[in-house]
Formats: sequence, C-alpha cells, structure tokens
Amino acid sequence: MKQIILATAAVAVAFASLAVDAATPADWRSRSIYQVLTDRFARTDGSTTATCDTEDRVYCGGTYQGIINHLDYIQNMGFNAIWISPITYNLEQMTAYGEAFHGYWQQNLYGLNSNFGTGDELKALSTAVHDRGMYLMVDVVVNHNGWNGNESTVVYSDFYPFNNSSYYHSFCDITNYNNQDNVEDCWLGDSNVELVDLKTQDSTVASMYYNWITELVSNYSIDGLRIDTVKHVDKAFWPGFNSAAGVFCTGEVYDGDPAYTCPYQNFLDSVLNYPIYYPLLAAFQSTSGSISDLVTSLASMKSTCKDSTLLGSFSENHDLPRFASYTQDLSLAKNIIAYTLLADGIPILYAGQEQHYAGGADPANREATWLSGYNTSSPLYEHVAALNQIRNHAVYVDATYLTYQNWVIYSDTTTIAMRKGYDGKQVITVLSNKGEDGAAYTQSLGNTGWAAGTSVVEILGCTTLTVDESGNLQVPMASGLPRVYYPEAQLSESGVCSL
Ligand SMILES: *[C@@H]1O[C@H](CO)[C@@H](O)[C@H](O)[C@H]1NC(C)=O
Ligand SMILES: *[C@@H]1O[C@H](CO)[C@@H](O)[C@H](O)[C@H]1NC(C)=O
Ligand SMILES: *[C@@H]1O[C@H](CO)[C@@H](O)[C@H](O)[C@H]1NC(C)=O
Ligand SMILES: *[C@@H]1O[C@H](CO)[C@@H](O)[C@H](O)[C@H]1NC(C)=O
Ligand SMILES: *[C@@H]1O[C@H](CO)[C@@H](O)[C@H](O)[C@H]1NC(C)=O
Repeated sequence: MKQIILATAAVAVAFASLAVDAATPADWRSRSIYQVLTDRFARTDGSTTATCDTEDRVYCGGTYQGIINHLDYIQNMGFNAIWISPITYNLEQMTAYGEAFHGYWQQNLYGLNSNFGTGDELKALSTAVHDRGMYLMVDVVVNHNGWNGNESTVVYSDFYPFNNSSYYHSFCDITNYNNQDNVEDCWLGDSNVELVDLKTQDSTVASMYYNWITELVSNYSIDGLRIDTVKHVDKAFWPGFNSAAGVFCTGEVYDGDPAYTCPYQNFLDSVLNYPIYYPLLAAFQSTSGSISDLVTSLASMKSTCKDSTLLGSFSENHDLPRFASYTQDLSLAKNIIAYTLLADGIPILYAGQEQHYAGGADPANREATWLSGYNTSSPLYEHVAALNQIRNHAVYVDATYLTYQNWVIYSDTTTIAMRKGYDGKQVITVLSNKGEDGAAYTQSLGNTGWAAGTSVVEILGCTTLTVDESGNLQVPMASGLPRVYYPEAQLSESGVCSL
C-alpha cells in the first residue's frame, strides 16, 4: 500500500494548483470521485460502533468533521474528489419515511443542515479537501422543496426564499412518465412527503436559483455540483444554472435510454451514466449476464452523447441496490468496479462499495461506513486503490488518455476487452463474467496497439507479459478475475507494482 500512497501524492501535487480556480469540465475529467452520504460516512466522535439501523431512516450522526478526519482513507484509495450530500436546511420532522438524513428534503436554500455541522465546519472540510489537491462536489436540489404532509397542508411561508405559492407549480401528481410536461410540472413525492415543485420556467424563480448557486459555490469554495432530479426540470433552465454555478455540473437524469438521457448533456456539462449502468449491472450481476448488450450500449453512448468522456461512471449509489445484494461473487464485484474506473467518464464509487456492502434497495443501501472499521486491507479497498493508481498514472503520463474514447477491441459471451489511450501509453482492460469459479483460459487479443515484444505489466496481479511475435497479447484469465495491462516502460518510479 505504501507505493500506492506515494503515487497518489505525486498526482495530487500535479493537480494542486487547479483547486484554487473554478474547476472546469476538463479539470474534472481527470478526477475520480468518492461519494458519501454525509450522515453515513463518519462521525465526529470517530465511533466505529455507533448504531445505524438503515430501516429506521433517521440521522445516524455523520458530520463534515468526521469526513475531515477520514480523508486519508479516501485519498489512499486513489480518489481526488469527494461528493457530499446536499448541505442546505431540510425539514426537521419525523415523516412517514423517516428523517431528512439524506438531505433531499430542502426547505431553506440559505440555511444549512445543522446535523452535519456548522458553516465553519463545512468551510474547514472544503479547505482540508483542497489542501490535499482534491475537489469538493456538493449535491444540490433545484426541482423541489420537501414538505412533511400532503399538498393541502403546505405552508409556503415556511420555505425560503421561495416563500409564496406563486413560485410553485400547482399541485398534480406525476402520472405519465411518457409526457415530459407532466414529468416537469407535476410533483414528485406523495401525500406523506410532498416534493413541492418549483416553477423553474418562471424567470424570477430561475434568477433566484442562479443567484443562490453563485453564492453557494463561492461561500464554500465548491468545485463541482451533482444535481438531483434533472429530468423533472425544463431543459431551458439548465444552461443558466450551469453558467451561474461557474463550475462543473453533472446531473442525475434517472433514465436508461441514451436517446432520452444524452440530450441533457447539451444543457449541462455532464450527466450520470444511467444508460450504461443497467446493461453493466446485467452483464456482471451473474455468470450468465449479457456482455453483448453492454458492448451495444457502450457504442450507443459514444455516438449519442455529446461527450462520453465527461459522464459520471458508477455501478452503485444511494438510490440503487448494492451490487453485492445481487451476488456475493468477489470476482464479479472486481470486474464491475474495474469497468467503472477504467472505461470512459469520471468514475464514482459509492462509500461502502469498497467494503463489499450488500444492502438492497433504499433504505438498506445506506449503511454507515464506520461499521466497516474503515478496513484498508479489505479486498475491494485494495482493488480500488490499484485501479485508481493506474488511472491516475496513465493521466499523469499522457492526459490525452482521458479524451480517447474507450474502444472495445474484443468481446464474446463472457469476456470484454477495452483499450483506452494512445501512442503505446494505453490501458488495456480485460473483463470477464465467469465468476470466482470460472475456469482458466487464455484470451488472445489483437488491436492492443502494442508492437510485438512490448513488455506489459498486469497491474492487479503485478505479473509481466510480452506481446507475442504476431502482435497479440495472450492473456491468462482465471477465476473470473479482471486483468489490466499497461506498458512496463511507462511505469518507472510510478509506484505501481513497486516499480
Ligand atoms: C391532508 O392531511 C390533513 C392532515 O393530516 C388531513 O386532514 C387531510 O384529510 C389530508 N387531505 C387529503 C386530500 O388527503
Ligand atoms: C418572503 O420573504 C421575503 C424576504 O424575506 C419577505 O419580504 C416576504 O414578506 C416573504 N413573503 C411571505 C409570503 O412570507
Ligand atoms: C404571493 O405572490 C402573489 C403574486 O405576486 C401575491 O399576489 C400574493 O400577495 C403573495 N402572497 C403572499 C402571502 O404574500
Ligand atoms: C453567502 O455568504 C454571505 C455572507 O455571509 C451570506 O449573506 C449569504 O447568504 C450566503 N449565501 C449562501 C447561498 O449561503
Ligand atoms: C480487514 O480485512 C482483512 C481482509 O478481509 C481481514 O483479514 C482483517 O481481519 C480485517 N481487519 C479488521 C480489523 O477487521
């Protein structure tokens, strides 16, 4: 692990000067993001035993100070950005769905959620993150405010600054997801907790949001935004918001269809890659998953989205069942993580994934990270560290690695091999869904771009291999494990595999 820490520090220094200026999409492309639910990652008291029963859906005590105290845990895994929960003031009642520990039930945009700490503590987190050359991404909610009760009980003057019903769409439930007006103008939530829907088409509402986000980004030196429920807001609202934020924005467009999701990238810098998530999960959640569907989706995203290298790449988050809730197979878990870190886009790992957490659908997937004891020897912690390390190193050697669109050089029913990068300095990733019990086999790969005789290192197992006389790489696959190759000549003093 020592070598990994050193290499990460070298990359952090290289990026440190960027953290003081507004972070652009190009700056973010090189980043790798660790997503925390602020309430669930780390407590100020450092407890690794404090109870957090996810079924209760109440605050468990995670704080900004807790995150500050555990930045080593995140950075030593190779991450150079964190995404935290919405920071704003939320409804304080115990609702039929528990408390607002996730931060998505905002009421006052200018107030803070004091459960996570004070404004000064949030600023201290921002400073601590920047001191390490890392970026701070904050989750924001623009579509709605949260209300404990049904639509007829809403007291609009309890909201701020949108304290008058005239700022909101009049009540209707979303009933038809095929009707975009219905999706944008009607309300999410239900009669237990209504998500009171802002009239973002109104220029007064829009400019109030734009002024707010400019101040919020400035006040807390925020480097990027993850934006909630983007598809529930009219597209015309977003360019002004992205511009007022002045930093990279990635939006949640919760839809698996590239034709629906990609166009949002014409209005925002980036969206989360839901269209890949579904075929990716399907490919690796069992040993009979479809690799060809993944290959098809990959090609579709490359051609449909404005820039596939800026999409947020993930296989878990707080809205989705954990991967390990589908299968306990560790090889499959390693493959899906390798995909998210080494394919196109900005990788995002959801806290707890590195500990092989297995919670199912919300709220079970919102386990407290502290209950793992922050074990830095766990198999997936080490796996993620090795993958981030080679990605960070490949970027350090040649930043054009990031804009090269991942190319599938081989696929069959159980194996997919991908190339990313140019000029011999590419990473070749070979994934399999044969699982832990998968038999050994040799996969011959052409199109690696490496000349015969090139010596390459498999960075997860630290073995070397030479490209054969015909220019093919004879990859020894076994136990369904992923393989990741990089040229030995580019690894000197990288720390990768102790080189
Ligand atoms: C809304 O909630 C109030 C208070 O709980 C209740 O009295 C009323 O019947 C509810 N209205 C509707 C339409 O459900
Ligand atoms: C809304 O807030 C503004 C600014 O504080 C205030 O002037 C106005 O009276 C408030 N309106 C309502 C309906 O509470
Ligand atoms: C809300 O705004 C409308 C339209 O501007 C105004 O007529 C009304 O008086 C406001 N309501 C309150 C409670 O201030
Ligand atoms: C930003 O800070 C200023 C000065 O403290 C404060 O007046 C303003 O309300 C803050 N804005 C936000 C969005 O936090
Ligand atoms: C951490 O994980 C490793 C590998 O699974 C295990 O051997 C070790 O016991 C764990 N350490 C603690 C303190 O749980």
